[in-house]
This record gives sequence, structure tokens and C-alpha cells, in this order.
Amino acid sequence: MNTRTLRTLAAALSLTAALAISGCSGKSEPAMSVSGAFMPQPVSDKMAGGFMVIKNGSDSADKLTGASSPLSDDLQIHETKDQKMQQVQAMDVPANGELRLERGGNHIMFMGLKNTPQVGDKVTVELRFEKAGPVKVELDVKERTYNAQTPTSTAGNGH
Ligand code: CU
Repeated sequence: MNTRTLRTLAAALSLTAALAISGCSGKSEPAMSVSGAFMPQPVSDKMAGGFMVIKNGSDSADKLTGASSPLSDDLQIHETKDQKMQQVQAMDVPANGELRLERGGNHIMFMGLKNTPQVGDKVTVELRFEKAGPVKVELDVKERTYNAQTPTSTAGNGH
């Protein structure tokens, strides 16, 4: 298969996924919704960062406990303290609140990429929570300098 065929296939698949996700919106149970998910185009295949806002629409506090992706077999949850990032086992998603993964702060770290995504590609990630069911998210690969337009984010040199 050539690249064009693959891209068309990927687009068709992601459309199916979007339809499937919206088809679930009638259920009262799913607590987590994700917005603004993106990945700055990785510099190399060594690592990449994933950013998004995870909203907890339920009355019970939850925790992000892990993530998986076809792009990497080693996804970690990182926080940034004193401009150094470190791995944590879980991150709080407050009841009726949100967990912000943003440049210069908390993020999902992809270690040892199986390929190097380019701007315009999509990267699928499945988030796992302590209580809520797993949530599939598609990250849009953006320019390296891209930052989500949120009032609290800073234009740091996060990855
Ligand atoms: Cu990191």
C-alpha cells in the first residue's frame, strides 16, 4: 500500500471512530471527556509529548492511571517540577473538574516511538482511569511551536 492509500484508510477509520464515540453520548455513565488533544511534531523517534484537557463530568473524583498507543509501548504520565519532568503513577481528575495536560506542565510521554509522526497525522491514545472506563482519544500532530489556546498555558519549551 502506498502512503496515499494508508492516509485515506486512516481518515476513514478515524471517521468511524468519531461516529462510534458520538453514538455513546446518550449514556449517562461516561464521565470523561477530552478536548484539545494534540502532539507537537516529535523531533526524533526517541520521545514525544501528548497534551489535552480531561474533564470529569461525574460527582466522584477519579485518577488517570495509564495510557497506551500504537505509537509506543511505553507511555508514561509525567509532571513537571522545577522545569524537570518526572514520572508519576497516577494523576487526579477532580469530581466535576478537569485535569490539564499542557506544555510546560503535566503531559503524557511517549517513549521510543515506532515512527515519527508528521504534522497532520493523528495518533490514537487510550486513556485508563481508576474508576471510569477507558477513553480513546485522537491527538492531532501539530507544528513544534503549537500551543493550545488556553488562558492558563504558558509558551514554555515543553515537548
Ligand atoms: Cu515528559
